Amino acid sequence: MFDHLPILPPDSILGLAAACRADTNPNKVDLTIGIYMDEAGLCPVFDAVKQAQRALVDEEITKAYIPPQGDQAFLDGMTDLILGADLLASRKGAVAAVQTPGGCGAVRLGAEVLKASGAGGKVWVSDPTWPVHIPLIGSVGLELTQYRYYDPGTHGVNFQGMVDDLTGAQKGDIVLFHGCCHNPSGADLNAEQWQVVAQMAAEQGFTPMIDLAYQGFGDGLEQDVFGLRALVDNTPEVVIAASCSKNMGLYRERTGLAIFVGQDARAAQATGSQATAAARRIYSMPPAHGAIIAGRILSDAKLRQEWQAELTAMCRRINSLRVDFGDRLQAATGRDFGFIAEEKGMFSFLGLSKEQALQLRSDKGLYMLDSSRINVASLNSSNLDKVVDAVVSVL
Ligand SMILES: Cc1ncc(COP(=O)(O)O)c(C=O)c1O
Repeated sequence: MFDHLPILPPDSILGLAAACRADTNPNKVDLTIGIYMDEAGLCPVFDAVKQAQRALVDEEITKAYIPPQGDQAFLDGMTDLILGADLLASRKGAVAAVQTPGGCGAVRLGAEVLKASGAGGKVWVSDPTWPVHIPLIGSVGLELTQYRYYDPGTHGVNFQGMVDDLTGAQKGDIVLFHGCCHNPSGADLNAEQWQVVAQMAAEQGFTPMIDLAYQGFGDGLEQDVFGLRALVDNTPEVVIAASCSKNMGLYRERTGLAIFVGQDARAAQATGSQATAAARRIYSMPPAHGAIIAGRILSDAKLRQEWQAELTAMCRRINSLRVDFGDRLQAATGRDFGFIAEEKGMFSFLGLSKEQALQLRSDKGLYMLDSSRINVASLNSSNLDKVVDAVVSVL
C-alpha cells in the first residue's frame, strides 16, 4: 500500500529549522521558527511554570482523563484573561470554551464548528497569513479567500486595501483576524482601525474568527486584546482560537482553547458540544499537563504576578532588540529601518527578495524564511553583529 505513497517535502518553516541544525557553518544563525529565545539562545521555561509544575508533581494523584471540554480552572482563567470581566458579564451564559491541543487545535476546532454551523460562505484570511492557517481551515472543507493586509512599500498595514476587500465579506462569511502581533508581518491594526473593522462586522454581518497566539507579546496583556474585545462587543457571534505556547512558554505541552461567543445559552451549548464532538472524532481527549499548569498560574495571585512580570520582561527585550537591530541596519546602510521598532511581537519582514534570503542562507548560514520573515526574538548580543553584517552584505 505504501509503495506508491508520495513522499512529501518538509514543512516550509520546520524544514528550514532542520536545515539550519544540519548546517556545519560555525557562524550559522537560525531566525526561522517562532519561539522566544533568551540571551543565551535558549527557549526558557518560565519560573512561574516551574513552580506550578513542581506543585503539580507533588499533588497529582491520578492520570485519568480530564473532562472532554478541559480543565475548568484553565478555561475560566483564560476566558477571563481574553474577554475580560465586562464582556463576560454582558455575554453571560453565551460563551463556550473548549480546551485544545495548542492554538492550532483551537483553529481547527473553530473551523470544524463553523463548518458544522452550515457556514456556506468563504473564510477570508489576510495576505499574507501564517501558512498553517490554510490547511488547518481548508481541511474541514471551508473555502478560503484573501484580503489585502500588508504593504511591503510602507512596511505597514494596507488598511485601505483591507477595508476595500472586506467590503465584499457578507453574512455567512468568516473573517480571520490575528488578535495581535501579526504573523508573519508584525504589522498590527491600531485602535481606530480595529473599531472600523468591528463596525464593518456589525453592519455586514460577517463572523469574526480571531487567532490569538501572542497575547502579551505586543503592548501588554490587556492592550493586545483591544481589537478582539471590540469585535466581540459589536457582533453576535465570534470564534476565538487562543494559545499558551508563547505567552506561557508551554509550546510542547500543546495548551490552547477555542472560545465561542454566541447569542444565548443554547448557542453556547451547541458550539461547546460540537467542539467536543469534533475533538472526539479527531484526537478524543485534550492533553492535561500544560492546561493544569496554566490554570494554576492564572488562579494563584502570586504565580500570576510572577508570570506577568516574566512575560513583560520578554516583551521588553524583544522591543529593545527591535530598536537596536533597526538602528544598526540604518546606520550601516543609510536606509530607513525604523519600521522594525514599530512592529509588534516576534516577527518582521526585512524586505529582502527571495534571492537575497537564499544567498544569506547559502553564503552566511543566516536562516530566515524565503519571504525574509525573521524572528526578532532569536537575536542576541552574540549573533547581532553577524546578522547585521550579513544582511548589509546583500543590500
Ligand atoms: C499565528 C499563529 N497562530 C497559531 C499558532 C499556534 O501555535 P500552537 O499550536 O503551537 O499553540 C501559532 C504558532 O506559531 C501562530 O504563529
